[in-house]
Amino acid sequence: MIEQDRIKKILFGGDYNPEQWPEEVWEEDMRLFKLAHVDTVTINVFSWAMLQPSEEVYDFSKLDKIMEMTKKNHLNVCLATSTGAHPAWMARKYPDILRADAQGIKRQFGSRHNSCPNSKTYRCYAPKLAAKIAERYKGYDNIVAWHISNEFGGECHCDNCQRAFRVWLKEKYGTIEKLNVAWNMAFWGHTLYDFEDVVLPDLRSEEFLRPGRTCSSFQGISLDYKRFNSESLLECFRLEREAVRAITPNIPITTNLMGAYKPLDYQKWAKEMDFISWDNYPEYDAIASQVAFSHDLMRGIKQGKPFALMEQTPSVSNWHPYCALKRPGVMRLYSYQAVAHGADTILFFQMRRSKGACEKYHGALIDHCGHEHTRVFKEMSELGKELDHLGSAVLGGYTQSEVAIVFDWDNWWASELSAGPSQNINYLKEVQTYYHYFHSHHIPVDIIGVDDDLSQYKIVIAPLLYMCKEGFDQKLRDYIKNGGSFVTTYFSGYVDDHDLVVGAYPGHLKDLLGIWVEEIDALPPETSNYFDYKGQIYPAMIACDLLHTKTAEALSTYKQDFYAGMPAVTKNQYGDGQTYYIATRSNDAFYEAFFDDLTKQLGIFPIINIPREIEATIRQNKNGNFLFLLNHSRETLKCEIDRVGKELLTNQSYQKGDTLTFLPYDVKIIKF
Ligand code: GLA
Ligand code: ZN
Repeated sequence: MIEQDRIKKILFGGDYNPEQWPEEVWEEDMRLFKLAHVDTVTINVFSWAMLQPSEEVYDFSKLDKIMEMTKKNHLNVCLATSTGAHPAWMARKYPDILRADAQGIKRQFGSRHNSCPNSKTYRCYAPKLAAKIAERYKGYDNIVAWHISNEFGGECHCDNCQRAFRVWLKEKYGTIEKLNVAWNMAFWGHTLYDFEDVVLPDLRSEEFLRPGRTCSSFQGISLDYKRFNSESLLECFRLEREAVRAITPNIPITTNLMGAYKPLDYQKWAKEMDFISWDNYPEYDAIASQVAFSHDLMRGIKQGKPFALMEQTPSVSNWHPYCALKRPGVMRLYSYQAVAHGADTILFFQMRRSKGACEKYHGALIDHCGHEHTRVFKEMSELGKELDHLGSAVLGGYTQSEVAIVFDWDNWWASELSAGPSQNINYLKEVQTYYHYFHSHHIPVDIIGVDDDLSQYKIVIAPLLYMCKEGFDQKLRDYIKNGGSFVTTYFSGYVDDHDLVVGAYPGHLKDLLGIWVEEIDALPPETSNYFDYKGQIYPAMIACDLLHTKTAEALSTYKQDFYAGMPAVTKNQYGDGQTYYIATRSNDAFYEAFFDDLTKQLGIFPIINIPREIEATIRQNKNGNFLFLLNHSRETLKCEIDRVGKELLTNQSYQKGDTLTFLPYDVKIIKF
């Protein structure tokens, strides 16, 4: 779908479900798609019941017509395999396909994304259907991608999964003795005698609910379950992928991911996908940097390769607590924001609003009124036209970053599985706080995993690196010795890959940080401590590490309580590089002060000097450099341009020193 020679523009269109409508409506759809410049449809996402009405019978008659229609109308097809929801007969006949929830309650037929990933039935019939679809439509040259299933996700706690978990553990640990050590089962006398003693960690066994999260009495077990669950679903993806790849080896394969989605380790998934695609549904109150972060995360899991924006809503979602409309201009702004961060498609859910069920009030190109005279249709067709005009200019563009932020699913899980030290420790928020500084200063960032190469970065930041996975400390040492800069925070380096404490904190990071942490004090939300930095006072919140310097110097000390005078921010020289430890959580003003200093010192500059409300990114490809400027505010803003360039959406040329005027939610793409 992306990075194919035959694709000459940013693909535009989205999820289309003609099977829910009589055929007369299809003709009208085709007329409206042309008006709106739609060139791509994602079809067949939830059609399993139609395609396989019983165990023996497959019926492709309607899909045949739909495929013919796409071909006749020159539409690219992103072809889904339809396995995101199983048919009713299958649930009736083979109840092993039904999931069980975290209380072990077996689900009945209903909802979607509802198949047990370890069900034999699912693993047999899902790839079988995918293969049949591939076999039937392999001759269609308008298929630009395979869309496997839909938004893989969730957890299952059924008996299939418990059995499979035991097998998975046996492969991983070999003996029950090793398992007991890894999970520290001597605690509370939980020693297991046999793999048959293993039960799923959930609300029936080791887990319990705390506000906003599920905690575990045995983090090691829960962590392994999360890895296993992510892997089980990934195996379902692989089975379908192999089924279609064997028949259509040249069609790239993806599945739609969900950004910062906690249950699945997307860094592992990315390795198995031909290209990344994802669905962007920000909360109504999300700020620009949170959305930007998700895009950069999705770009980062595939080492910077362009990705597909598979879904976003044209106007309104149906499932947020408050389904606010995207204001005029915002759909266009969000579309280009995706492109600015690496997307080569702009696709939507959905093309036509359904008549019934829970998504009937979800936004669509074609609304319930059925005609083109709506605000949303107008905005979408203008965007469609603009994308025709933009052509292939920015396709395949890469982003060059000098800053990397580490994001790691094991750390996300582990840092939040233990009830202590504070239920307000929030991995995603912590990472986003650091990201926010760079985003608002127009400094590009790569979001990387612990397996990625560090050598190209001037600075690597690993917020809440609670778990220092095997080998990562050595990788950091090599990077820092050679002149790299490294920043980490409170509650870092505490545990190994099994969530076992490795000794004095921060474990294997002690030498490179030049400190040791003796205690950690959690601060309830109504309290805070304070620390100084360069003559200013900043709040310390959530948790404070009480630490001692060894080779590091203290850049700041706490001001209150019995640990007043102990270091709050430290710096250590290590080889040719330097490391920093920020022992608490502070506010944006502190991160401003701290990173203003550090970036200056390291020669890291904004890509352009413009007001903060305007987001700025650069993508580069063989055609040149493209500066994306996005006004996220409702105000008209003006600024000076510091280089000669041509704006691609308006064809306007700029000289150095010219004034750029940004209307509310305006977008400019300047080639220079
Ligand atoms: C998800 C799904 C779609 C649809 C949209 C609605 O992203 O993939 O099928 O349900 O949400 O927002
Ligand atoms: Zn299951």
